[in-house]
Amino acid sequence: MTDTVPEYRAPHYQAAEIFDAVDRESALDVMARLVEHRRHGTTDMMPEQRREPIAKYLDEGLWHREIAEIFHRIPLPVATSAELPNIGDFKAMRVVGREIVLVRGKDGRLNAMLNVCRHRSMKLVPEGCGSARRFTCPYHSWTYDTDGTLTGVPGEDTFGPVDRDESSLVGLACEERAGIIFVCLTAGLEMDIDGWLGDALPLLEQLGLDRTHHFSTRELAGPNWKVTVDGYLEGYHFSSLHPNTVALTNYTNMAAFDAFGPHMRNVFALKEIDRFLEMPREQWQPADALGLVYWIFPGMAIAGGWRERAVVSLMLPGDTWAESMTRQTVLLRKAPQTPEEILEAERTADWFYAAFRDEDYTAQTEVMNGLSSLADKDMLIGRNEPGVQHVHETIDRLLRGESVHSPRT
Ligand SMILES: [Fe+2]
Repeated sequence: MTDTVPEYRAPHYQAAEIFDAVDRESALDVMARLVEHRRHGTTDMMPEQRREPIAKYLDEGLWHREIAEIFHRIPLPVATSAELPNIGDFKAMRVVGREIVLVRGKDGRLNAMLNVCRHRSMKLVPEGCGSARRFTCPYHSWTYDTDGTLTGVPGEDTFGPVDRDESSLVGLACEERAGIIFVCLTAGLEMDIDGWLGDALPLLEQLGLDRTHHFSTRELAGPNWKVTVDGYLEGYHFSSLHPNTVALTNYTNMAAFDAFGPHMRNVFALKEIDRFLEMPREQWQPADALGLVYWIFPGMAIAGGWRERAVVSLMLPGDTWAESMTRQTVLLRKAPQTPEEILEAERTADWFYAAFRDEDYTAQTEVMNGLSSLADKDMLIGRNEPGVQHVHETIDRLLRGESVHSPRT
């Protein structure tokens, strides 16, 4: 891993082979919008600006409501299927204040459980990924099957009887869709994942992330989650904050925005789009000309979904109001075979990590530092920042108990 943004090198943006006819038509529709924006120097806009009271970023009580009423109740994206391809594969992680373990069970379905031994409440599986046939607590060696069933209590004749149903691991609702793993962090709550994803689901399925190879996952600490999320959702800042990275390939302030219930898609115009302006639509190559970013509420950004290498950034609140934690995952269409392919994947991982750490997250930390000085003011969110407007509107609606589902069409 490098310590600074590596010297810029034209990324090998390579269209994925899975890019099929259905993908291509909807991608061409988006490209037509961006070709028009490029011709006229425009971008997708909301009807109005939005005023967001800065106090809403700073209110720790509101943060606790966001955790309890949103993060602990909705279908939360927590990982990619490619991280757990085989039976017995597991991932233990701390997610928004909860210890969880994901494990692919003997039937191939994914189980999600609270990663806490039912004896003394010790964390059962150490943080990280691996493969296991059973889990044994390091404290007193209580043992659980991969579906969470308690299978072993050492010295049970001296401990006294332990009810297997009552003392198995606490299960959480868990579903996989489009190569993404969703968990509900409150035990006993059901999950309507298809309704929650709505019209975004078929588009996400077309990305084929369920058939990718996991290359790497790196963690990045950041400030308050709403401060951090704002930076993922607009391309207005590219030329000023990223002159030597993102802005070398992307036009600034030029994007197509679509909302799907709480989720969204921001498609940015790459400078490559100029090649296609005079070409007939049939010859356009959207994977070369567009930067595609799907964003699944409340914090998963999927970049490069039409290409050979995709980068999935999962940004979730940390243990306190002031912290967030981002897990940045690189997925490849196929496992790298040659040293050159490995090097190219490492470059992608290094470049994304360093650019986010040294540019976006550094800026967002300075936003955190600045907010308290303006605690009685509003933040003005531009008409050209539809994604930022949409996420704050969605948070408000969820906290008011309103539905945010998109109608299925
Ligand atoms: Fe940025």
